[in-house]
Order: sequence, then C-alpha cells, then structure tokens
Amino acid sequence: MNPFSLVGKTILVTGASSGIGKAIAVSCSQQGATLIITGRNEARLLETLLMLEGEGHEMICADLTKMDELEKMVEGLPKLDGIVCNAGLANPLVLQLTEAEDVDKIMQINALAPIHLTRIVLQQKKLNKGASLVYISSINGNNCAYIGSTIYAASKSALTGFMKGVALELAPRGIRANCINPGMIETDLLKSGSIGQDELEKDRLKYPLKRYGKPEEVAYAAVYLLSDATQWITGSSLLIDGGYTLQ
Ligand SMILES: NC(=O)c1ccc[n+]([C@@H]2O[C@H](COP(=O)([O-])OP(=O)(O)OC[C@H]3O[C@@H](n4cnc5c(N)ncnc54)[C@H](OP(=O)(O)O)[C@@H]3O)[C@@H](O)[C@H]2O)c1
Repeated sequence: MNPFSLVGKTILVTGASSGIGKAIAVSCSQQGATLIITGRNEARLLETLLMLEGEGHEMICADLTKMDELEKMVEGLPKLDGIVCNAGLANPLVLQLTEAEDVDKIMQINALAPIHLTRIVLQQKKLNKGASLVYISSINGNNCAYIGSTIYAASKSALTGFMKGVALELAPRGIRANCINPGMIETDLLKSGSIGQDELEKDRLKYPLKRYGKPEEVAYAAVYLLSDATQWITGSSLLIDGGYTLQ
C-alpha cells in the first residue's frame, strides 16, 4: 500500500482556475484522486479540468464570497475526503491608502470564504471520516510581514487561527486540518510585467535557495497533507519558503 496515494479519495479544490490551485488539482489527479474544482472563470476552469488525469472529475463555477453561490455549490457536492481552500487574493496597498472596501474584499475571499465553506460543509455533513482539510495560508502574517500587505497578512493569520480551532474541534472524528505557508511562488502575475524583471531578480536572491517556489512545489505538499501518510498531522502549518524566513 502506498500511503501517499490519493486513489479512492474525492477532493474539492477552490481557486483551481489558475496558479497554485491549478497545480494542486493536477497533482491530486496524478495521485489518483477524483477532483471537484471551483473558480469563477469558466474558460480557465475548463482548461484545468482538461489537464486532469483520470475520469469522473467535475467543475463548478461559483463566487465563494457570495453566500447563495457558496451554499448552492456545497449542496451539489458528494461526500468529500479532502478540501483545499486555496482561492485568494493579494492587493498590495499601504494601510493609509486602504479603503473599507479594500479590507472587505481581501478578508472576504482569503478568510471568510474558507470559514463559511468549512462551516457549511460540516452542517451539510459532506465530510467522510478521516477527511483532510488544507488551507493555503502564507508566510505573510504568520512567519513574517511585508510593507504594503497588512490586510493580506491579517487575512492569512486569521485563516491560520481558524485552522487551529477546526483541527481541535474535528479531531474526535478523525478529521484533520492543516495550513500550508508558501513564500513567493512563480505565477502568471509575475510574468505579466507589473513588477520589473530587475526588481524580481533582486527579490529572488533574498531567498537562501536563490529562487521563488514553483506552483507544483506547493501542490506536492497539499498531496502529502491530503494523503493517509499524514494521518497523525493536524493543526500544523507547513512552511514552504526556500528558507526565506530563516533570516
Ligand atoms: N503566489 C504566491 O506567491 C502566493 C504565496 C503565498 C500564498 N499564496 C496563496 O495561494 C493561493 C493561490 O494563489 P495564486 O498565486 O495561485 O493566485 P491566482 O493565480 O490569482 O489564483 C487565485 C484563484 O482564486 C480564485 N478566486 C479568487 N477570488 C475568488 C472568488 N471570489 N470566488 C471564487 N474563486 C476566487 C481565482 O479564480 P477565478 O479567477 O476563476 O475567480 C483563482 O483560481 C491564494 O490563497 C494566495 O493568497 C500565494
């Protein structure tokens, strides 16, 4: 028996239409899981669906910050063995220039959406015994902070605090909850040119391993936490940052 296999497990991945969520969905399918993927953008979500290995996968378009869409999505779900709460947003802005709507926008998708998703999934009894919940948090707000992303830091440390309560509350049912705290990951955003290449290269060198992470490097950690190899790991935060926060 391979303890790292996801064969026979049904896993929901939010924010699967791009970046880290897409890599997580693909990696889970490669390990034999049946996936339910969500996001708002139908075309990009379909792209991910077509990349999944194996059969029986499903996609559901939903805005997770809208309670009616979230409830409808959960109603349609089968029993799950794992959830990866990955959908999120970064909005670099110094606090003094941050408006109330900016705060709401970040908190809603990064903190409130995973809280409500978990709450509704439990109320609708959609989790199998032994299920694993994985929350994609960040080093930002948990292991360090950055000027210009204070609200993002607040949203990600709220998510980590939530995960700890969930881990304790659901442990008697054998349901586990853990976070992954990535450092900077190479995603399409960085290729878009909004940050200069020189600036990016300087920043990459601040990482002891001299590069940013790859989406699949976060995905492999998600597969690990979803698998039976981690049946005794709950309430933890797995740091994936190329050594950045050692300094
Ligand atoms: N990239 C990094 O360096 C890094 C580092 C640490 C942590 N993280 C965290 O990792 C996660 C994924 O980041 P990423 O870099 O892969 O970002 P991304 O490429 O921008 O992907 C974000 C995903 O979230 C979905 N999403 C956003 N708002 C949504 C909403 N209201 N309802 C439903 N889905 C929504 C998007 O789907 P649609 O566009 O289809 O709506 C998209 O699939 C985030 O939680 C982020 O905070 C990222």
